[in-house]
Amino acid sequence: MVKQTFQTNKGELVVEGPVTAEELEQLTLDEGLRTFRPPKRQKEALIEISQIPDGRIVIARIDTIIVGYVTYHPPDSFERWALGPPELIELGAIEVSPKVRGLGVGKKLLEVTFADPTMDNYIVIATEYYWHWDLEKTGLRVMEYKELMDRLMSSAGLLVTETDDEEICSHPANMLAVRYGKNVSQESIDQFKSILFLNKKED
Ligand SMILES: CC(C)(COP(=O)(O)OP(=O)(O)OC[C@H]1O[C@@H](n2cnc3c(N)ncnc32)[C@H](O)[C@@H]1OP(=O)(O)O)[C@@H](O)C(=O)NCCC(=O)NCCS
Repeated sequence: MVKQTFQTNKGELVVEGPVTAEELEQLTLDEGLRTFRPPKRQKEALIEISQIPDGRIVIARIDTIIVGYVTYHPPDSFERWALGPPELIELGAIEVSPKVRGLGVGKKLLEVTFADPTMDNYIVIATEYYWHWDLEKTGLRVMEYKELMDRLMSSAGLLVTETDDEEICSHPANMLAVRYGKNVSQESIDQFKSILFLNKKED
């Protein structure tokens, strides 16, 4: 478990993880964390992910209130990423409550995640689809939001990577970001790279 405290103009934040289901049970999700689903249901989803093999939750909290989180889990079986090596995991979601956005909490969640040497055993991917983004509350245009996501992800070594995945390619703002852990074998990296492009070009 990595734990760091972090001073903001909203008070002291604790950023820590991976947290267990039992630890999550004791905490409350801030009311502002509702980009993906209402906070109560999102807390249940976090607890579920923390219990699956290779599932991982890192949180930012003020006292017992979770104000930000990031989730990691193996790819869904119906996605092409499930064809990758066993060390492949997906950054599923990152969310920071509007009251503490723009203070570096998102970046800190990723920094704490990758301060854990275990993460060097994985290839971590983030599939970013613009329809998941909070365009309304941030007031950003789609391509500005893409820049935000790129800055956020690249701060932790998740770099934009080309693919012919249909969902990623369906809009220019969507993107795939990848971080290769330094302990991942070349064989696994090659297996992952072989699934980036699956659609054969017609002659
Ligand atoms: C995306 C999100 C997690 C960012 O969290 P955050 O704590 O505000 O991010 P940070 O403060 O760490 O900022 C990260 C980078 O984005 C930039 N950024 C943040 N808010 C921005 C804004 N409103 N306009 C422009 N850039 C912005 C920061 O400048 C920073 O880059 P820099 O350090 O190079 O300057 C947050 O906006 C959020 O929860 N959005 C809703 C959920 C979502 O869209 N998740 C992504 C899909 S899973």
